Amino acid sequence: MSSFAEFFSGIGLVREAIEPLGWDCVFANDIAEDKAEMYRARFGDDHLVVEDINRLRLTDLPDDLDLLTASFPCIDLSLAGNRRGLAGEHSGTIWPFLDLTAGLVSERTPPKALLLENVTGFVTSNQGRDLAEVCARIGELGYFLDLVAVDARWFTPQSRPRLFVLAIREDLVERPLPPTGNLTRLRTAAIRSFQSTHRDVPFAELSLPEPPQVASRRLSQVLEYVPPDDESWWPGEQVKALCGAMHERHALRVNELLLGKRDGVATMYRRVRHGRTVGEVRNDNIAGCLRTANGGSSVQFLVDCRSGQPRIRPLTGLEYARLQGAGDFPITVGRRQAQSGFGDAVCVPAVRWLVDAAFGFLLSEFSQREPIQTRFANEPLDAVAAGG
Ligand SMILES: C[S@@+](CC[C@H](N)C(=O)[O-])C[C@H]1O[C@@H](n2cnc3c(N)ncnc32)[C@H](O)[C@@H]1O
Repeated sequence: MSSFAEFFSGIGLVREAIEPLGWDCVFANDIAEDKAEMYRARFGDDHLVVEDINRLRLTDLPDDLDLLTASFPCIDLSLAGNRRGLAGEHSGTIWPFLDLTAGLVSERTPPKALLLENVTGFVTSNQGRDLAEVCARIGELGYFLDLVAVDARWFTPQSRPRLFVLAIREDLVERPLPPTGNLTRLRTAAIRSFQSTHRDVPFAELSLPEPPQVASRRLSQVLEYVPPDDESWWPGEQVKALCGAMHERHALRVNELLLGKRDGVATMYRRVRHGRTVGEVRNDNIAGCLRTANGGSSVQFLVDCRSGQPRIRPLTGLEYARLQGAGDFPITVGRRQAQSGFGDAVCVPAVRWLVDAAFGFLLSEFSQREPIQTRFANEPLDAVAAGG
């Protein structure tokens, strides 16, 4: 088997994505007990260490790790966050991860590959200096690097562009090809600009297949049926007040839903603009980027006009799971905790596609690929789409 260690494991959606490809998870680490509770409900407790990564020692890690994954916190790198960059206390947790990697390289078996995931703002954070430092560190450890941007919307109805840093041990790359410079969906202008200004980084461009163009399901097809008398629906007056206070552009979108456009449904963020709470409605058949539900404004709501009247409720935990391509995941916690867990996680089919395409050749011949089937993928459309 080829083994991997999942750092910043959260609820375990990297594991959910790549175990069926034949990667065997032998170690997982996260600091958060609420995420760990969800992780355990899915995978059990065998390999999960709930601890601050700053406190992990090399001796805590198992031997012979083939792949290390790190979807480290984005709060200091994202536009929605504070842009402190890798000096920030949260996103700065990449440094202890790289220290542990360095320890494996110098004192144990160097992993074959590393996968880092974060927001696309990582490329430009501190004018590119943050990513440059990370790439330099990984390069010094004896790895070639590649950078790709993958958006969840190619796989599920959610906008979630993410940057992936792929690193492969030098001795495993026969002919390292430099970046082509071509602009593609995977290699965006920001990535190309970074590569052309950081020629000292040992880049080796992987030949990756074309990702899917669009998700096979629309937003309306991942919604749960929530009975009209469920308490999660907002009271009529509250809906009326919010719709009445909407910016014209967003009110028009609600009208379009009432006319049956976009299947009559859209997602909405509630934001405070100039001291007023307003609703901002999407107009493209997909959900906005899910986020961890710690701040009031980060929860995503459904605007449902299929009954001829606008109705509003928060998206459910299962809807969050489906938007991350994890419709099979057992949800044993309340809505808020599920929203936080899934909102902070990775999009399963996006990570699966990438790891299969980029690292598939590293799998040992003994790795057992599981048939990839999910309830979500096989559910008849009318069962999934029975709207509420
Ligand atoms: C972007 S999320 C990763 C989500 C994960 N990939 C998943 O699919 O659920 C970042 C994770 O880093 C964890 N984290 C933050 N600070 C940490 C620390 N000091 N040590 C270990 N984990 C930390 C958070 O609890 C969070 O689950």
